[in-house]
Amino acid sequence: MQKVGKYPANAQRYNGMRDDYWGPSDEQQFETMDAGHYLYLLLESDRPNMLFRAPVSNPKYILDIGTGPGTWAIDTADKFPDATVYGVDLYPPPHSWVPPNCFLEVEDVLSDWTWKHKFDLIHMRLMLGAFMESEWDSVYRKCYENLEPGGWLEEVELDVRVISDDNSLSPDSYLAGWGENFLGCAERAGRPLSTQTKMAGAMERAGFVNIHDHLFKCPIGSWPKNRKLKEAGRVNFDHWTTGMDGWAMWLLTKHGAPRPWDADELRREQSCGIRGCMYIIIPGEFGPRSLWQVYDEYAVLEALG
Ligand SMILES: C[S@@+](CC[C@H](N)C(=O)[O-])C[C@H]1O[C@@H](n2cnc3c(N)ncnc32)[C@H](O)[C@@H]1O
Repeated sequence: MQKVGKYPANAQRYNGMRDDYWGPSDEQQFETMDAGHYLYLLLESDRPNMLFRAPVSNPKYILDIGTGPGTWAIDTADKFPDATVYGVDLYPPPHSWVPPNCFLEVEDVLSDWTWKHKFDLIHMRLMLGAFMESEWDSVYRKCYENLEPGGWLEEVELDVRVISDDNSLSPDSYLAGWGENFLGCAERAGRPLSTQTKMAGAMERAGFVNIHDHLFKCPIGSWPKNRKLKEAGRVNFDHWTTGMDGWAMWLLTKHGAPRPWDADELRREQSCGIRGCMYIIIPGEFGPRSLWQVYDEYAVLEALG
């Protein structure tokens, strides 16, 4: 169920099931999520399976929690036609056609799970800020209980702060401060965005063993010389520029400090401040690539249930 107009000043659409989740579910955000999906495929494009790292070869049942537009679930169903892939989110998917072995369902994963099967693989990507710590514990516990023995959980999360490893991004720059700003808002909302720092411990608490993690640095902008990273950086730049309005609006207008921002103020800051800053400091192909190395950092974790 989608609700239109709950946040009229923002001109964005949010799901109608929970009013405490920060992300909109509108066309622009779907475009951003699809850019994110393409970005992760590109980063894994040297591997035979670009969709997940867990060593699952002949899965029967797969679940994607917080599937968004369902792009990962759809691609996974296409790649594994003998598997049944469920994607679940708080709103109906924007697709009228999905592969016959893919089911995109509307459900709050914090409610009781009603799937009849146990899963060989449960996948989550970018669920940062969706749950309080106790809710995360309950989600991991449900994942554990709903996996086949030897089944795998895989999660991809990112650090919302932009970094550079040659100190070319000054810590007091607008862009560096932006991530800190989000982290503070989410802390005040009670649903921290720093999921990537806590997920291994929480998985362990739920009973998972054999936890593997991989850390990726993903360029923003097409400055790298390496062809794969150049393409990833180009896609990531689009990911950022289409995503920023949706990432910021709920958090800053509800939990901004020292007072919540108003939507117009936020739009002004986004277009003149952060967006302007990104276009100026993040070089494209012919930019001063040795000067600015700006990254997103994200972690992939697989754990054996
Ligand atoms: C940032 S999006 C990521 C979407 C997708 N996994 C991807 O990588 O493109 C997070 C998604 O989690 C969903 N979500 C948040 N809380 C949820 C809940 N309690 N139950 C189901 N889905 C939830 C949101 O609606 C949103 O679509």
